Amino acid sequence: MAIERVFVAGAGLMGHGIAQAAAAIGKRVVLYEPDASRARAGRERVAGNLERAVTKGRLSPGDRTNTMERIEATDDQARVRDADLVIEAVFEDVDVKSRLWRELDALAPQATIFATNTSSISIDRLAEAVSPARRARFVGMHFFSPVPVMPLVELIRGAATSDGTEAVVRALAAEMGKQVIVSADRPGFIVNRILIPFLAEAMRAYEEGVGSADDIDSGAKVGLNHPMGPLELADFIGLDVCLGIMRVLHEGFGQPQFAPPAVLVRLVDEGHLGQKTGRGFHTYPRS
Ligand code: CAA
Repeated sequence: MAIERVFVAGAGLMGHGIAQAAAAIGKRVVLYEPDASRARAGRERVAGNLERAVTKGRLSPGDRTNTMERIEATDDQARVRDADLVIEAVFEDVDVKSRLWRELDALAPQATIFATNTSSISIDRLAEAVSPARRARFVGMHFFSPVPVMPLVELIRGAATSDGTEAVVRALAAEMGKQVIVSADRPGFIVNRILIPFLAEAMRAYEEGVGSADDIDSGAKVGLNHPMGPLELADFIGLDVCLGIMRVLHEGFGQPQFAPPAVLVRLVDEGHLGQKTGRGFHTYPRS
């Protein structure tokens, strides 16, 4: 089955990037948010990314226009009726995701493949939200941010995921120029299982006053050659998202390295979610 029409649910950091990556390889994309202005804002973020690429000479103005024309922003969930594939990238919360999957399952054709971009929640748990007949076509397709730049996709099969579904997701990821790694359906899969304790430990070091946020980040950037320091990266991912993933990992494994640090809980409670709110471990724009 060739994928031509993709319905992306969620137009935030991940969703707008996924929409861009799909449209860039010629797919027709419907970018959905229940609030039309958020859907349009996601599409505008893609326009901004493409504008930067044109300015840098990496993209022709014609290709930019064609890519944008393939992306439609909507608040109409029923547009899923035309989709070959749904990629869900809404907030990392099992109830939020399950509710949406239930609604989409009732509207989408039986042949439509459902891929969740969850970064930590069990695929089998989320698949419970859809009809048993759909579960062979339910799969995890985890992208990394910024999606147009990061060349990795984690593929996670649930107990019922079919070989055909895996093949379709692999083919699409390859078309997007992404390398696929396969993870078992365990909390946080492969990458966040490794990344999240690293971010949490940096937060604990900050909390204990081991070093300033800048020095902790420089430690990883200069000493380990990471492109971003852990506190900067947490701000970039979104502190609410980091907290959501940590809770899933902590619940799943019960080990102290996954426990959310108090400073993270406090920042999220205060509404400081990182880059998107202008303040997290750092303030934005950075000077
Ligand atoms: N969207 C699209 N493209 C972007 C972008 C964005 N938000 N940010 C940067 N880019 C592009 C730039 O246009 C530029 O492209 P060219 O080189 O072709 O011109 C390229 O990326 C490099 O950008 P910059 O030169 O502006 O900046 P940089 O060299 O500092 O790189 C970065 C920026 C790619 C984000 C780099 O800092 C990086 O790799 N950071 C780490 C990102 C990371 O770890 N991501 C994974 C997060 S974990 C996750 O996503 C999974 C999860 O479940 C939490």
